[in-house]
Amino acid sequence: MNYQTYLGDSIEILKSLPSASMDSLVTDPPAGIGLLGLDWDKDKGGRREWIEWLTAIMAECHRLLKPGAHGFVWAIPRTSHWTGAALEDAGFEVKDVITHVFGSGFPKSVAVDKAIDRAKYTDTDQLFQVTDWIRKRRNELNLTNKQLDEIAGVKGGACHWTARPPAGQPHIPTKERWEKLETVLGRPPEWIEKLIKPSHELGENWSKRTVVGHYPKNAGGIGGVEFRSIHQSVTIPTSEISQKWHGWGTALKPASEHWIMIQKPISEHNIAANVLKYETGGINIDASRIPVRGKIPSTTNLDFRDGGFLWDTSERSQHSIYHQHPGGRFPANLIVTRSNDIECPAKVMNDQSERETDVAQYFKTFKPEAPFFYCKKPDKHERGEDNIHPTVKPLRLMRYLCKMVTPKNGTVLDPFMGSGTTGVAALFEGFQFIGIERDENYHQIANRRMKGIRR
Ligand SMILES: C[S@@+](CC[C@H](N)C(=O)[O-])C[C@H]1O[C@@H](n2cnc3c(N)ncnc32)[C@H](O)[C@@H]1O
Repeated sequence: MNYQTYLGDSIEILKSLPSASMDSLVTDPPAGIGLLGLDWDKDKGGRREWIEWLTAIMAECHRLLKPGAHGFVWAIPRTSHWTGAALEDAGFEVKDVITHVFGSGFPKSVAVDKAIDRAKYTDTDQLFQVTDWIRKRRNELNLTNKQLDEIAGVKGGACHWTARPPAGQPHIPTKERWEKLETVLGRPPEWIEKLIKPSHELGENWSKRTVVGHYPKNAGGIGGVEFRSIHQSVTIPTSEISQKWHGWGTALKPASEHWIMIQKPISEHNIAANVLKYETGGINIDASRIPVRGKIPSTTNLDFRDGGFLWDTSERSQHSIYHQHPGGRFPANLIVTRSNDIECPAKVMNDQSERETDVAQYFKTFKPEAPFFYCKKPDKHERGEDNIHPTVKPLRLMRYLCKMVTPKNGTVLDPFMGSGTTGVAALFEGFQFIGIERDENYHQIANRRMKGIRR
């Protein structure tokens, strides 16, 4: 066998595969919070439900792995503790977390001053008084939320209009919705009527914001010609309360991801016995070394002051220069992608260090990044022209992860195969591969990408 893929839900397929038959697990599951708004990415109803869902799949993976086998499981920092909990509940040990720094994410932050100015209502207690009235009327009339939704012509609105404190998310129906609801619920009391506003109406301070500039929102184009340039206003608050919150937001820029390193506990009395019996239990350090040659300063002297990974070229650093292991740097729990990576910096360093330049001078001139594992984002060529998967991982990264945890001729398991990058990586490294994907299109793309790859 070179590789085998399955179309279907991994929980079902995994159950049909034999125990202790896989040598490693390298997989990229959904994040659990509806990050992309796609069907496969949906949240499962909350933290507990999502952990239970992943635990069930990971418990099957645990059964399929040989004792001592390792794995890497992708997670985002925001829910990586959920993934970690599911992995532990499934029986794995969490051994480390590799942070992959890429720096290019887009912050989904809400400007607090704008949120205040835009908000129609800012008094939660008042909203709960309104939802309390609607809920009581609904109960008096023996109606359900589903019926209220149908009356108002919406889906999922009534659970907000009837929300209870403290966990509910209360909304007041817009004027347009009230007009329909009133035909059944009757006219609300005057204090509620005063709060009803049309959907287009925003907070009274919104229109008072001062426009201080405009910026074009890039709408794409061809050959330098923009399709459409949307000019958005840059505004600053005028009201005292929102001025106080100008410059405050709600989220950080997502610039890193996690690869949680796990191990199925060894079954023998020590690592030597386990490796000799199953070939699993160790990680392939030498295959994962980061190649650098010649003399370079120790990473303990890295200087992060200028916002990048620059070298400390001070006297102190000069004294701690040492000769590298011939295979390169010890693999670290940090991986770096530069968005404008043209060339792998490790290669630049190799070429340059062959010149035997004075080390301090060399690093002053070339400003290399720290010698961690570098990988570029996947371009069209790497993904394959027809690959429509939204979260394709870099091939170089997946090869690196597969070879770190898979013994020679071993089998890599991926129960969330997507467009098959783990499979392509495993095959390029000379491993066998088992992949499962529930989406027919992605499954086909993965098979096309893997077809014919032999090392
Ligand atoms: C983050 S993507 C993996 C992308 C992949 N690393 C790549 O480079 O193309 C996760 C994949 O898991 C699949 N998936 C989600 N739940 C699944 C399940 N229960 N069984 C099988 N596949 C599932 C989704 O359809 C999605 O393609």
